This record gives sequence, structure tokens and C-alpha cells, in this order.
Amino acid sequence: MENKKIIIAIDGYSACGKSTTAKAVAASIGYSYIDSGAMYRAVALYFLDNYIKITDPKAVSKSLEDIEISFRFNEKNGASETYLNGINVEDQIRTMRVTQKVSEVAALKAVRDKLGEQQQKMGKKKAIVMDGRDIGTHIFPYAELKVFMEADINIRAYRRQQELLNRDKVVDLDEILENLKKRDHIDTHRKDNPLTKAEDAIVLNTTDRTIEEQVSFVIDLWKQKST
Ligand code: CDP
Repeated sequence: MENKKIIIAIDGYSACGKSTTAKAVAASIGYSYIDSGAMYRAVALYFLDNYIKITDPKAVSKSLEDIEISFRFNEKNGASETYLNGINVEDQIRTMRVTQKVSEVAALKAVRDKLGEQQQKMGKKKAIVMDGRDIGTHIFPYAELKVFMEADINIRAYRRQQELLNRDKVVDLDEILENLKKRDHIDTHRKDNPLTKAEDAIVLNTTDRTIEEQVSFVIDLWKQKST
């Protein structure tokens, strides 16, 4: 019997392994993967490059009209990459410059409304894995499978440092730790759709888990929910 198509929402704190897990799960079960954080990062990049002040609602709403975000599959490295107004920004959106700014930008209601609408459209046909902060609580409250990921903050900082090193970026561990704490605070305290565990989400703590274990944890849940 064929599995029924569902929506898998993966939420949680930064650098818990959400994207890595979501990507591998999607590839393994033939679903699309959407990195909602990449969309917020692309908007933050646009604001930085165009000197848009987040305290200027007019400038914010005008720029949101001018922003077009999409994902394209790169055959060479087998990865889905983020495009901002037709330009590949996958590397730029992962720099500390953007990382320092993104949570303030993501706290703006106008930004959340615009990206939220686009994310909901992407889930219309189901068969999707989306990761973020408010996917199970706000974007897809009826998602059949919700996973909430967490991990020890020192492990998270270390993993993020390694990830940046793989992109040839050397960043001090303390700087990463401070940034994670700051973003956790903004993400959990903002007024619109703060990061919180949906009541029906299943917690996945990745402190002592390998990537393979995390991925099979979610795939096992998918098997239960989709049959
Ligand atoms: O990669 P990392 O886990 O550090 O973060 P991300 O998933 O790329 O998301 C970057 C930032 O975007 C987060 O710290 C949030 O402030 C924001 N975000 C959000 O508000 N809502 C989402 N659904 C996804 C990300």
C-alpha cells in the first residue's frame, strides 16, 4: 500500500540539527524540503544590502514588495539553494553578518506575514518537510507530524562552529554562543508566532544523538503517521 502524503513540521532552536535532519528525511522519503530560516535570512540580507531600517515600516513594506525568494536544485552538489531576486545567495545568507541580524528581521509582523503566506502555498500539495520556528504552531497547525528539536547549547555552538568551518569561515566559539543565546531569546519572546513547542509535537533531543539516529527517528514516525 502506498503511504499517504503528509506534512512534516520540524521546529526548534538554532543549530540543533533541524536542517540536516529535515533535508536527509526529505531525500530519503522523496518529499520536498523547505528551509524557512533561509527565507528569513534572505530578507535580512536584502535589508542589510539596501540599508533598510527595521524601524521604518514604510521602507520595510516597500522592500517586501521588491523581494522574491525561491529555491533551486543544484545538480552539481545535490542541494537546494536559496535565490533572492534571481541571484544565488546560499553562501551569503549563512555569514555572521546576516546571522547577527536575522532574528530582529524575523520578528517583524510584515515579514512573517509575507513569508508565512509563501510557505503555506508551498505546502498545498503536502509531501513536504519544512523546518523553522513556527511551522507546527502557525504555518501548518494541522501538520500530521510535528517534531520539536532541542540540544544542549554548548553542543549547538560547537556544531555550528564546525558547520561554518566547512564553509571556510573561522568564528570564535564565544561569539557563536552569544549569538545563539540572543537569537533564542528574540525567537521565544517575540509577539508574533514565537518559537514554542506545539502541544502535539514530539520532542527530539539531539545532544547525544548522531545524525543517522535523528534521521531514522523522524522516518520511523513518518512511517507510523503516513500508513
Ligand atoms: O540555521 P539556524 O538554525 O541558526 O537558523 P535558521 O533556521 O536559518 O533561522 C534563522 C532565523 O530566522 C532564526 O533565528 C529565527 O529568528 C528566524 N526564523 C523564524 O523566525 N521563523 C522560522 N520559521 C524560521 C526562522
